[in-house]
Amino acid sequence: MEHAARGARAAGGLTIGLLPGDDPDDANEHIDVAIATGLGHARNAVLARTADGMVALGGGLGTLSEIALALRNRRPTIGIKTWRFDRQDRTEPELPIAENATEALDWLVMSAPHQLDERARSGFRQAFGYPPGAVAVAPGRINIIGEHTDYNEGFVLPAAIDRHIGVALRLRRDARIALRSDRYQASVEFDALPTRRQGNWADYVIGVTREIDQRYDPGPGFDAFVASDIPVGSGLSSSGALDVANAVAMLAARGIELPAVETARLCQAAENGFVGAHTGIMDPFTALTARGGNAILLDCRSMRDEHVPLPDGRFAWLLADSRVRHELALTAYNERRRECEAAATVLGLPSLRDAREADLPGIANPVERRRAQHVVTENSRVLQAADALRRRSPRGLGPLLYASHESLRLDFAVSCRELDCLVELAAGMPQVIGARMMGGGFGGCVLVLVEAGGIDDVEQHLAEGYADEFHKSPEFYRVRSVDGVMPERTT
Ligand code: GLA
Repeated sequence: MEHAARGARAAGGLTIGLLPGDDPDDANEHIDVAIATGLGHARNAVLARTADGMVALGGGLGTLSEIALALRNRRPTIGIKTWRFDRQDRTEPELPIAENATEALDWLVMSAPHQLDERARSGFRQAFGYPPGAVAVAPGRINIIGEHTDYNEGFVLPAAIDRHIGVALRLRRDARIALRSDRYQASVEFDALPTRRQGNWADYVIGVTREIDQRYDPGPGFDAFVASDIPVGSGLSSSGALDVANAVAMLAARGIELPAVETARLCQAAENGFVGAHTGIMDPFTALTARGGNAILLDCRSMRDEHVPLPDGRFAWLLADSRVRHELALTAYNERRRECEAAATVLGLPSLRDAREADLPGIANPVERRRAQHVVTENSRVLQAADALRRRSPRGLGPLLYASHESLRLDFAVSCRELDCLVELAAGMPQVIGARMMGGGFGGCVLVLVEAGGIDDVEQHLAEGYADEFHKSPEFYRVRSVDGVMPERTT
């Protein structure tokens, strides 16, 4: 084991994974490279399977591509903190194993959306035996602030992140539909586009296709392959990214041009109708229009958007995933939306966007009044947060993030003990600027804005405190902002 741990020799004689000063002859000759992410304390790592077992070639801080680039340039020292040799380590099964080390490293150096594009393409080729006709890649998102405001015609402040879903598809001559994903083993096949919900991931693909069919002529059947590195149920909008990637690829394959706002509305209609999730416009709009380095201040009534600069590299976004997935989250989400609509009706307003704090005592039902209280105060926090970003004053976000969490916990009642615990733990760290639960709620992630230099300590503190309380560890994702959907390519 010692031998393997000292490094590995990749195809072409490239020696990787050795610390400076180590003897390259100690390296293993025959390796098979795998790629792992989110190991233990969210270290990313490039792993190799050697005759002696697993060896981490590089890992620690940095994205997989940065680690791979350093390895390829024989600088395997960036941020290497942990070296893991355990076959039991959780690696994400959807990450494919490369043919050889050089291919794996080249592949890793590609940017995140290109990786997913490549994975969708090669997955499609493998599954169906011919190349796809169109491919699109869409990102997940964080939402800095503005939760449960989008469907109340309010304000949101999301940014797209370096986690993506790629959809590769080709139209068929008949009506058959065959769907494959690198996340789920089973293939899904239909003789024709289903009219009934299936209760699984295929619903997003079917829902979007039905919306396109309804707006235009019914299209033919198709084969599709979905590749993903967005965790499901964490509140990072894996479903929004799937809707958007599928819509963009399908529209391209059918030669239809549609502006981004209309494409976002089409995706929202698929969720609201076929899927049965009464979500707002934030997720698809972000996946389509985001710009790296910026958050989008979106007015969900007028659909006017403004790009505001995210904090610079002295700060980082950390997601701590509680790993709680609530069975009833969808039902509770739809219920919240109904409560908000009821509150607006009582006030005689088209939506809670128009409500003011002074109006709230006019809502007799205490539950509806509290829901409205959240929406009204959250809208004002979004505008203040956008202002703090414009003024390049990220520390101004801190109190707003904490206040948003309290409002979601007490007034909107969409938090849970695990999320509250993570926010409390984060608030106890001097390196943390602010934290709050993110997304629809009832589990998923806490978003933490942290001083970049303190991110390791914060992770460790959260991991230990969370394990003390709940006997399990959170999953961490260090995310960066990216552009919205990669332009569709018909091939
Ligand atoms: C989910 C929905 C969004 C939004 C958030 C809560 O992510 O898809 O439309 O309502 O919850 O802010």
